[in-house]
Amino acid sequence: MQLFKLAFLLVIGLCSAAYAAEPIVIKFSHVVATDTPKGKAAEHFKKLAEDYSQGQVKVEVYPNSQLYKDKEEMEALQIGAVQMLAPSLAKFGPLGVREFEVFDLPYIFENYEALHKVTQGQIGQDLLKKLGAKGILGLAFWDNGFKQMSANKPLRKPEDYKGVKMRIQSSKILDQQMRALNANPQVMAFSEVYQALQTGVVDGTENPVSNFFTQKMQEVQKFLILTNHGYLGYAVIVNKKFWDGLPAEVRTALNKAMAESTEFANSIAKQENDDALAQVKASGKTEIIELTPGEKAALKKAMIVVHDKQDRIPKELIESVQTVTDFKK
Ligand code: LMR
Repeated sequence: MQLFKLAFLLVIGLCSAAYAAEPIVIKFSHVVATDTPKGKAAEHFKKLAEDYSQGQVKVEVYPNSQLYKDKEEMEALQIGAVQMLAPSLAKFGPLGVREFEVFDLPYIFENYEALHKVTQGQIGQDLLKKLGAKGILGLAFWDNGFKQMSANKPLRKPEDYKGVKMRIQSSKILDQQMRALNANPQVMAFSEVYQALQTGVVDGTENPVSNFFTQKMQEVQKFLILTNHGYLGYAVIVNKKFWDGLPAEVRTALNKAMAESTEFANSIAKQENDDALAQVKASGKTEIIELTPGEKAALKKAMIVVHDKQDRIPKELIESVQTVTDFKK
């Protein structure tokens, strides 16, 4: 009997040792630098998820397209090669969820406050639900910020964009936005942008300054034009099958970690972009252009036509966004 008891304890001991030695691994792939709003939020999530799950979960964060580029990471998530991503909202169109392109409409959000009425409200929740059909669960929206244009010429007036090759993310609305300026849009993975700018494959791009600075684009762009013409942010997504298969208590811990990381992400994003702008200025490599009120108005007039011209996003969705944000043209 004594022997049986001993053997039993040994088996329990071995099982719990094996359990402790083999946490559930969440591979979290993203394409930006660690020192950005998304990069920092991913690290924050890792820490909280590992703490709250008491070591049952290990989060491996792979920044800077180390594992996958934009398009590949979406595919990797769907086949379960990675478990978590936070792609830009402009990258869901190719997946067949065009509604996310509402975030790409130029000038649709006046500021972060207006944006949060959508991302933190019912419209945001409904958008995330649309991912279910693709085997994806949307957990949260994380902020980055408002985009600025950059190029090797000072793009002050809409006419200045004519024929300029502008790198864009894979959103048809962004394509239409650049075409509204008679620019020449080119879809390209984020990891390829620096080199494309350096070698002249493209002449310019658009991004929040945190992305511009951390990819060292100031080395290869003479002008950064403060246009604030559109928004770039993220949906944090997981492979639905993986998530549903987690033990309930682990999911609870992860949901808590995600809720807190979302607050964290959205509390640092603006400051991160302000700091990045100060650093670009300090680098002395790129001239920062502030547009006059007249130039701003002309740019807006030229781009906002996309709201009415586009045929990708349901009109009702645009109208509900405009209603909750109290949008004025
Ligand atoms: C881009 O491709 O420009 C951005 O979506 C990168 C990112 O994830 O912020």
